[in-house]
Amino acid sequence: MIKAFVIGHPINHSRSPLIHGNWLAQHAIAGSYEAIDVAPADLPAFFQRLRSGEFAGGNVTIPHKEAVFALCDSIDPLATTIGAVNTLVVNNGQVHGTNTDYLGFLGNLDAGAPGWDRAGRPAIVMGAGGAARAILVALKSRNIPVHLLNRTRATADKLAREIGGAITAGALGDFNALAPGAGLVVNTTSIGMHGTRFKDLALDHLPDDALITDIVYVPLVTPLLADARARGLRTVDGLGMLLHQAVPGFSAWFGVRPNVTPALRATIEAAL
Ligand code: ATR
Repeated sequence: MIKAFVIGHPINHSRSPLIHGNWLAQHAIAGSYEAIDVAPADLPAFFQRLRSGEFAGGNVTIPHKEAVFALCDSIDPLATTIGAVNTLVVNNGQVHGTNTDYLGFLGNLDAGAPGWDRAGRPAIVMGAGGAARAILVALKSRNIPVHLLNRTRATADKLAREIGGAITAGALGDFNALAPGAGLVVNTTSIGMHGTRFKDLALDHLPDDALITDIVYVPLVTPLLADARARGLRTVDGLGMLLHQAVPGFSAWFGVRPNVTPALRATIEAAL
């Protein structure tokens, strides 16, 4: 019996047990994936339990994604750049920390808009907070140049320097001037979560084959995606990133690479 987990505090809102539970059933694997509430003070003791070999690994969610850095025996360098660990793999009593969000972002676009990166045109990434880091790492791995636009310009400057590569920082107001050359637009800000819209974003300046994506998935169709669809642009919603980021963890723990099927999407969508 192979066991995996998601730890957080609180943990009852995590969709991960539903995702992994579906894959375990689909592949008839004798395994389990359980949500475990671990308070911050109990994290070191939980890592001792991990080293005993009870679990093959698991996911880490709020508020532990940064705290686990000090407790892991090894860390993927990309997780260090992203500044968060969301996946743990236990091998011979050693706990390895990694981040699968950037793979989830790429997997979602590759599945939803095959060939999206072929032309190598610049991406416009809006927002320079924690969620932007994994997106920047992902785009860098595909050699896509990035315009990083943020309300607070200085934060974008700092993040561009930290990630390195072909990233130029700017303000949200630069969008309309940059739009004609862009191949991809990514919203990593929380705008859209409550039905709010970007002000003065001229989507009609974008090329007709530009792809628009949002990492927010509640609501599934954010105002940005709705506006893009109304303009006839291709869109990929953020739910796919959540599903695709779960693939590498499941593969590592249970030894089977699962698929993100329409049926799985429908199940998770119904539970949002
Ligand atoms: P997350 O971890 O989800 O990325 P975060 O680190 O708090 O959350 O970052 C939120 C991002 O959304 C930031 O880029 C923030 O811009 P600032 O750096 O200027 O704060 C952006 N953001 C949040 N609310 C916004 C709003 N109403 N208008 C424009 N940008 C907003």
